[in-house]
Amino acid sequence: MLVSYQQLDDLGVIRIDNPPVNALSQGVREGICDAVKLAQGDGTKAIVVVCEGRTFIAGADINEFGKPMQEPTLPQVNAALESLTKPVIAAIHGTALGGGFELALSCHYRCALTSASVGLPEVTLGLLPGAGGTQRLPRLIGVKAALDMMTTGKKINATEALDLGVLDRVFDGDLTRCAMEYARELITEGARPRQIRDLSIPNDSFDKDSFESYRGQLNKRKRGQEAPQKIVSCVEAAMGMPFKEGLAFERSRFMECVKSEQSAALRHIFFAERQAPRVPGIDKSVTPRVVQRIGIIGAGTMGGGIAMSFANAGIPVTLLDSSEEGLEKGIALIGKNYGVSVSKGKLSEHQAMEREALITGAVDYGKLADVDLVIEAVFESMDVKRQVFSRLDEVCKQGAILATNTSYLDVNEIAASTSRPQDVVGLHFFSPANVMRLLEVVKAESTSDEVVATAMALGKRIGKVPVLAGVCYGFIGNRMLRQYAREAQLCMIEGAEPAQIDSVLMNFGMAMGPLSVGDLAGLDIGYKARQALTEKQKGDPRSYCIADALVELGRLGQKAGAGYYKYDPETRARSTDPVVLDVIREQARKYGVQRRALSDEEILNRHLLALINEGFRILDEGIAQRAGDIDVVYVHGYGFPAYRGGPMFYAGQRGLVNVLKEIERLYEDTGEPYWAPATLLKKLVAEDLTLNDWIGVNG
Ligand code: 3HC
Ligand code: NAI
Repeated sequence: MLVSYQQLDDLGVIRIDNPPVNALSQGVREGICDAVKLAQGDGTKAIVVVCEGRTFIAGADINEFGKPMQEPTLPQVNAALESLTKPVIAAIHGTALGGGFELALSCHYRCALTSASVGLPEVTLGLLPGAGGTQRLPRLIGVKAALDMMTTGKKINATEALDLGVLDRVFDGDLTRCAMEYARELITEGARPRQIRDLSIPNDSFDKDSFESYRGQLNKRKRGQEAPQKIVSCVEAAMGMPFKEGLAFERSRFMECVKSEQSAALRHIFFAERQAPRVPGIDKSVTPRVVQRIGIIGAGTMGGGIAMSFANAGIPVTLLDSSEEGLEKGIALIGKNYGVSVSKGKLSEHQAMEREALITGAVDYGKLADVDLVIEAVFESMDVKRQVFSRLDEVCKQGAILATNTSYLDVNEIAASTSRPQDVVGLHFFSPANVMRLLEVVKAESTSDEVVATAMALGKRIGKVPVLAGVCYGFIGNRMLRQYAREAQLCMIEGAEPAQIDSVLMNFGMAMGPLSVGDLAGLDIGYKARQALTEKQKGDPRSYCIADALVELGRLGQKAGAGYYKYDPETRARSTDPVVLDVIREQARKYGVQRRALSDEEILNRHLLALINEGFRILDEGIAQRAGDIDVVYVHGYGFPAYRGGPMFYAGQRGLVNVLKEIERLYEDTGEPYWAPATLLKKLVAEDLTLNDWIGVNG
């Protein structure tokens, strides 16, 4: 029974029980409507709406989008609740999200546990609140606060919600009992049904210009996304139209969103993120090891950020560096980063102090004797890593997990430098590690299932999205990135300027263009890595000669004030530098490249198709478990626009047959082996299959 109705003396209780998150599937909607009919006809004086399980309603059932809509719709359910002629009280615990919060807004009063929160996260799924949220929330809390909540999708906690007037009462204790006491208080006071639909928004609270400037801000903040702009239109409608018309306006925009490619892409990412940590073949009988204390080796850029990720989740860390100086620098940077969070109001001073206190510095490996898991983040050199792992093998207790944060190196070889390769795994964090959500969990040949399960569970515990990867040069993300970065270099030498390449990819929706990313990371990193390679390993010189020449001119990127661009020392604003254009032309001459104008379309296609073709190879080899995992990697680790669903989803949207044709054309035109179409792509097209139909080597 998804919804039950019970009369308890003078109160009626509508109880929703649809695990795991009480999503508003068709059966729930129908059940609520039936309960409303019972409630209307009996002798009760007030109605409480409450949920079983871990949370209040988490929204519409996302699985139902894209299928024919079945009645009753959520707006119909909400209208029925709102029209009840006795007070209806929503009793919230956990999170009231999306349609769940909209349902609560259709109740006449709202109470919650102090631990609860509410929000309208539809925008993160490429949707807008489509069950009255855009019409009711501005009436309740004003236009600006409502727009902020709906366009960011951020939750607010019960205390903030109480201050804003979203909630009427908060309490600790047993939710149903407290909510029923509150309902009885309302009956005693003679409280009447109180419909938000009857409130009006003061016309002068947000004028036409304010809407225009809000839209402009959103164009920057939510570049390329349709739903946020539609939310603004709906709120404008709430001000200009009677409630009923406003609702119809909202519903039509909502249906447009549901059908949009952007929403399909974001829904794909929603489910892919949740599927990624699951590893077929590792059954539920495999229990993750207990991890209570972490060791980190190397207090540099990555070590510091990784330490913060654990401290932020309340897990104590011993941070070790080879020198006192390196350690002090690392600890000071962590302190500075927490200071910035305090100054931005993201953390209280107390919280920052508590987190910092969880990180203890060390230079003596003996301090790692009792850690449950240690992550190595020292220089990217196999010799150094092998030394570190053999030392860890000596000092760490039996059963401790030994992880490496290497970006490219062979985890099998690292594991072989210990006597316990079954306990060795790659944990590849992304920079800045305390911010980026992606975690590649690299399973080496001998890594045990128990260790993989522990890594997945731990990744989730610290708020990351863990994705399983196999061992190869660069794992999933960096292996694909090499192909993408090569196209940026080739497009430059063939005729495009850095600004054209960056703007094409930014317009597609990437968080940054490839050359700006290079300047931010520092061009010396790739340069140094190349120095360790043979000419053969480095590959075609046209794919790195410009970068090398810039480094040799001292143009190391943003930190040097110059790289592919020049940077204003004060504002850091970037501009095109004629020196760079000279370097590009000179390298083209050196390698006999005839420069030509490249169209934006060619630049975009080459970058994306390079990613996609390599993605198919990775999938075919079983380096990634699923196409969705590759998408999660690219969205969370490399700034690929979530509203395009990741490179593999995007390939599916373009049509695999079209993608194959374009790759074949590039192969014919260039003769370059890397443009040879991936076998799996050819197979899927030949058999007329989609990526969803394909069950990979791990599946
Ligand atoms: N519909 C269908 N399934 C949902 C769902 C939803 N709204 N929300 C969560 N689930 C599923 C997840 O897919 C997952 O399933 P799985 O176990 O098979 O993988 C399961 O519920 C548990 O979800 P999480 O792993 O995310 O659990 P957490 O405890 O970490 O988080 C949560 C719980 C905060 C509720 C989180 O699931 C969440 O944010 N859900 C989405 C909320 C949302 O976006 N709501 C808006 C929906 S659109 C809408 O309401 C339109 C309306 O305006 C008309
Ligand atoms: P870094 O140079 O900033 O820091 C390395 C730290 O390790 C330094 O503090 C150094 O003193 C310390 N160290 C060196 N040898 C040591 C040893 N034997 N014992 C203890 N400490 C030692 O390097 P960064 O950027 O933090 O990279 C670390 C690792 O993380 C590398 O393997 C790198 O490939 C990987 N990585 C780097 C990313 C980045 O964006 N910087 C992203 C993801 C992975």
